[in-house]
Amino acid sequence: MRLDKLFSDVGLLSRRDCARAVSRGEILVNGVPAMRADMKVDEKQAEILYRGERVLFSKFVYVMMNKPEGYISATTDGKAPVVTELLPEDLQRRGLFPAGRLDKDTTGFMLLTDDGQTAHRLLSPRHHVEKIYAFSLDTPLPMGAEERFLDGVLLGDELCKPAALTLDGTRRTGKIVLTEGKYHQIKRMMQREGSTVLSLKRISFGGIPLDESLAPGAWRYLTEEEAEKLLSQK
Ligand code: URA
Repeated sequence: MRLDKLFSDVGLLSRRDCARAVSRGEILVNGVPAMRADMKVDEKQAEILYRGERVLFSKFVYVMMNKPEGYISATTDGKAPVVTELLPEDLQRRGLFPAGRLDKDTTGFMLLTDDGQTAHRLLSPRHHVEKIYAFSLDTPLPMGAEERFLDGVLLGDELCKPAALTLDGTRRTGKIVLTEGKYHQIKRMMQREGSTVLSLKRISFGGIPLDESLAPGAWRYLTEEEAEKLLSQK
C-alpha cells in the first residue's frame, strides 16, 4: 500500500500533509526516513513512525462513546450537534459513523465505526444482537407488563420481537433488552403501558457493557477482546 494512503486510511494525515511530513523527515519506515509519499509499504510488516510515535494500521476502527444528551446519532445535521463532532479530527476524517441510532435525549453506549458490513450485521434484527437499556418512567408500569413485553408488543402494525424487562420494586425504573431498533421503540412500548420515559440510557451493546468511566461525550477504542466479541456476533 502507498504510504500516503496508509496515513489517510488511519486518519492521521491527508495525502498532501503526508507529503509535507515526508519532506520534513517526520516519517520513518523500518528505521529509515521515508523519501517519497507514494512509496510502497507492507502495512502488515513495516514499522512506521510518525514524529517518533508508532503508527498502527488497522483495517477498521471501533469506538465506544458515552453519548451525551442533545446530540444526534448522525455524521451531519443542519442544526443540532452530531455525535461524530465529539471525535478528534483524524477519526472524523477517517469517516467513522454511528452504528445505529439513539434518540437525541438518549444517553449511553454508541458504537462508531468505519466497518459498514459489521455495523449492518449488528443492527439487523435477524442477528439478535442484544442491546440493554436502563430507563426511568413517570408512573409505575402495570402488573403483567413483563409478560406482554415477552410476548411481543404491537406498535401500530409492527410486532416487536420479545423484549426481556426487569423492574425494580417501584416499577418505575428498570432494564430492558432489545434485539432490534424500531423508531422510538422503548418510548412507544412504555407509552402502550401508560407510562412516559423520563430517561433512557443504553448500558450494553452486543454483550459489551458501557465503560462507566467514560464521562458523557467521552470515547475510547474497543479493546481487542471487545472488538473480537463484536465481530463474532452471529
Ligand atoms: N428506544 C427509544 O425509544 N429510544 C432510543 O433512543 C432507543 C430505543
